[in-house]
Amino acid sequence: MNKTKILGTGSYLPKKILTNDELSRLIDTTDEWIVTRTGIRERRIVGEHETCSDMACQASLKALGAARVCADEIDMIIVASMTPDQRLPSASFLLQDKLKAKKAAVYDIAVACSGYVFALSIADQYIKTGEMKKILVVGVEVMSEVIDWEDRSTCVLFGDGAGAVVLGAGQTEERSIVSTHLFSNGSLHYLLNIPGGGSAAKWTPESLKRKDHFVKMKGKEVFRVAVESMADACKTALHKAGLTLSDISLFIPHQANIRIIQAVARKLNCSSDKVFVNLDKYGNMSAASIAVALDEAVRQSRIKKGDLVLIATFGAGFAWGSALIRW
Ligand code: UT7
Repeated sequence: MNKTKILGTGSYLPKKILTNDELSRLIDTTDEWIVTRTGIRERRIVGEHETCSDMACQASLKALGAARVCADEIDMIIVASMTPDQRLPSASFLLQDKLKAKKAAVYDIAVACSGYVFALSIADQYIKTGEMKKILVVGVEVMSEVIDWEDRSTCVLFGDGAGAVVLGAGQTEERSIVSTHLFSNGSLHYLLNIPGGGSAAKWTPESLKRKDHFVKMKGKEVFRVAVESMADACKTALHKAGLTLSDISLFIPHQANIRIIQAVARKLNCSSDKVFVNLDKYGNMSAASIAVALDEAVRQSRIKKGDLVLIATFGAGFAWGSALIRW
């Protein structure tokens, strides 16, 4: 069986920064409320003509550069996103065209915030079995397109961005995926959703008026499930590998709310110096959050040779999971 190696990572954040103070001039909120309740100080927003696949392309080029892999060597591209450029074809096809990754088989997966970890796990299976040699996985999201800018309970939370990783086959443990663990509970679909636009809820003037095309969220319930599910997924990963938290050098949780991250860290007995946090700069970028965090952790040398990295994710579905990476 092959090992799945992290050959290179990359990320891209749009230039436009939207601060809490700027938001407080648009809606009834304050920098103080947002920082104390969420830990977010600012977020990035796409430029007027910038799309999901544009951001994915920039992040992918950086990951390919770091991996020293050419786009035409890629066997498969998996894009995790719920905010593609258009309904058909999916964003991965537009990305393939931009990268000129001609031999790749490509597709999107829609697992909301957990999409990147689910995509990582799918890619891991193809590479471990020898089916594919090199796979590009991208987490990318244009959240600014699907949030209601008049709803203060959601619009302060999210931001736009993209992260990518090039995975390849190898035999040694170095920079390899140790395990991934995926979980879902569809009975919680109502906690966080975009109700409009599907076969059950076609566009009508009324649905547009109700803003059914924007994110609806029961924040408090999501908070509770998020803490429990991420902590459980981490415990499963550690237990199955015969490890404890003391073996972990860096914990990268989904970046949704600093209070969620702190509550999970408390449950795991994880000291704050081991926890990677960048949500103050970017907010919750859904499928892009962990992808960007992993790239920043690598580029900031927060991960060193031999380190064990624990990743935890959660999001709409409900879907959650974890991954262990040996650097
Ligand atoms: O990837 C998954 C994405 N989702 C999440 O991770 C969300 C998880 N949930 C959360 O992060 C938190 O529940 C929120 C940040 C969304 C809300 O924090 P909370 O501490 O649960 O606040 P709350 O909903 O209980 O609201 C408390 C008060 C309310 O006012 P009243 O009813 O007490 O008078 C809200 O109307 O805060 C008010 N509020 C705001 N005030 C100022 C809600 N949003 C804002 C706001 N600015 N932006």
